[in-house]
Amino acid sequence: MVIRIAAVGDVHLDKDVVGRFRPALEELPECADVLLLAGDLTRHGTEAEARCVAEEFGGLAVPVVTVLGNHDHQCDQVPQVVKVLEDAGITVLEGNGVVLDCAGGRLGIAGVKGFGGGFAGRCASDFGEPEMKAFVRTTTDSADRLGAALRSLDCDMLVALTHYAPVPDTLVGEPLEIYPFLGSYQLGQAIDSAPTALAVHGHAHAGTERGTTPGGVRVRNVAHPVIKQAYSVFHVGDQLDTDQVSPIGQSGSQRSWS
Ligand SMILES: [Fe+2]
Ligand SMILES: [Fe+2]
Repeated sequence: MVIRIAAVGDVHLDKDVVGRFRPALEELPECADVLLLAGDLTRHGTEAEARCVAEEFGGLAVPVVTVLGNHDHQCDQVPQVVKVLEDAGITVLEGNGVVLDCAGGRLGIAGVKGFGGGFAGRCASDFGEPEMKAFVRTTTDSADRLGAALRSLDCDMLVALTHYAPVPDTLVGEPLEIYPFLGSYQLGQAIDSAPTALAVHGHAHAGTERGTTPGGVRVRNVAHPVIKQAYSVFHVGDQLDTDQVSPIGQSGSQRSWS
């Protein structure tokens, strides 16, 4: 039993990029059962940019499931952005999950944007000023909702989808000083609280593709500037958790978008 999962994040679409991913996306049914988008779909989170995302990722032959990223929040148009995406048939997760019937079994996907906070030994703490407490509480709430969603899904295989990173492994290449703004160990703990087979995230454009949670869950940073292709494909299933080097899926651009 194998489920094939394509994933990419940080596509940061606007009018000038529309169409670059589409040829590879049309080939998805040959190599994947689902496409996961790990947030930062847009540059500034405008409704107009969301329409570009809908045009590029809507109407595909495989289900598309996404979380939003920090860029998708920039213009405070999240409800409008979500509506445009959902009208295009894209499932938007934020602290909840979805179960898809795939040929290889029932795939459960729990998603949350996540937030920063840092990692073991170098993290923000819930202490002092109300602003710091609010910062840490945002991360804790986000991680709690991810964990609850993961544990609630009735499925054969479980995948966690976030924008922020759950481990520091996949941040290697980024400046150490900004790690606390790129992810949180609490997301990793949430992922480890359930029998998660794979965790994918974005956000760290200069990071590293591969990592592992303390509990041994495979973590992949699928930010487009990291994977440098339209999407990566991962197989999850009985004794067959592998990363596929896809002969297709090369986007027309390897440009690194901030
Ligand atoms: Fe990004
Ligand atoms: Fe981001």
